[in-house]
Amino acid sequence: MSVKEDAILNASRDELQGLQLERMRWSLAHAYNNVPFYKKSFDEAGVHPDDLKSLSDLAKFPFTVKQDLRDNYPFDMFAVPREKVARLHASSGTTGKPTVVGYTMKDINTWADVVARSIRAAGGKAGDMVHVAYGYGLFTGGLGAHYGAERCGCTVVPMSGGATDKQVQLIQDFKPSIIMVTPSYMLALADGFERLGIDPASTSLKIGIHGAEPWTAEMRQEIEARFNIDAVDIYGLSEVMGPGVGQEFRSTKDGPTLWEDHFYPEIIDPETGEVLPDGEEGELVFTSLTKEALPIIRYRTRDLTRLLPGSASTMRRMDRIRGRSDDMMIIRGVNVFPTQIEDLICQDPRLAPHYYCEINRTGRMDTLTVVTEVSAGVTGDEDKAAAAVSLQKKIKDLIGVSTKIDLREPGGVPRSEGKARRVVDNRGN
Ligand code: DLL
Repeated sequence: MSVKEDAILNASRDELQGLQLERMRWSLAHAYNNVPFYKKSFDEAGVHPDDLKSLSDLAKFPFTVKQDLRDNYPFDMFAVPREKVARLHASSGTTGKPTVVGYTMKDINTWADVVARSIRAAGGKAGDMVHVAYGYGLFTGGLGAHYGAERCGCTVVPMSGGATDKQVQLIQDFKPSIIMVTPSYMLALADGFERLGIDPASTSLKIGIHGAEPWTAEMRQEIEARFNIDAVDIYGLSEVMGPGVGQEFRSTKDGPTLWEDHFYPEIIDPETGEVLPDGEEGELVFTSLTKEALPIIRYRTRDLTRLLPGSASTMRRMDRIRGRSDDMMIIRGVNVFPTQIEDLICQDPRLAPHYYCEINRTGRMDTLTVVTEVSAGVTGDEDKAAAAVSLQKKIKDLIGVSTKIDLREPGGVPRSEGKARRVVDNRGN
């Protein structure tokens, strides 16, 4: 997609909705006619693709959930013969079989277009050098970013995740202006630079495109301050495409704009499945509008957010993701998201923004331990104890749950090289 074709970003809502309706009709029919799973699920719900007269009719169609992809492992959700599938990706999942996704050449092309568009929204342009530190392989992050950066006309450094010292060296030597990496690994890179005696704010980097895991406004501030860059949010998921389902504009920094010409968003009440109006928080659901190999109809992401009006584009935005319903911890009846804890850790300069939450069961009591670490300059035992007590009190006062704090020395919390694991549940159920 050329820059000119990005004219759709400024189309009127009417024009955009006209395009969405036409594409949605195609996508529903494509799924129904080619995937036995969709034929069965539509038939059971008593709906047919022809019933879609307006965009709101989508609410009549049944949801698709991750388990449906697992049940159809590996290729039964594909709507084209296997020979037409040009690429496979898979997400590992914590248990059982991975979720497999497929792309035709046209899908790969669309994906490169939306990631290129994302890089432009993030402030990148042809000729920029992009250091890709998302993992390459079955994960969609590395290759998704890579093809998009090439499509944008950038020079791509396909570094992948891990090997922190090497990352530092290549950033020093090649002098990229853009880095694409998870926010948690970006912070591990900041530590990596400092360990080698280099101020991360002195690098050539100007823009960080961060996603693949929830991160808070405080985390953004931390990354921007340490690297002296603009850090923007990229959203996506493999079942819908990969990175580049939505991207935050550098000019507004007000949450990812969803590329609604390819992915149709809805917000539903996760309990009742009812569609909620824009502005209300609930679970994000997507319907693909142009995908050939794996059309996905009303896919429940389990991501909790709200839809907001367009700002830099006519297309709608989503709010920063508050968390995944999977990551919500229920501790003695109180709902807690790791991002709430992250907010409080990042607000205290005595603490470093590395953490995870550990849940244990003692008898019939669930206990929550927050494992985090002190910032490099904090050395006195009294200061450490005060920081731990203060965090414990803030969590109790603001979130309403009692915790233990396991405050470690700098480097004491294991670093992720990709997506950080924020919840370790030892309850064994
Ligand atoms: O994480 C795709 C991706 C790669 C997005 C690189 C952005 C950058 P999955 O492995 O399928 O795909 O995981 C998708 O990650 O449902 C969210 O829960 C979470 N996620 C992705 N982006 C964000 C974000 C990739 N910007 C799951 N903020 C999604 C919060 C995010 N969570």
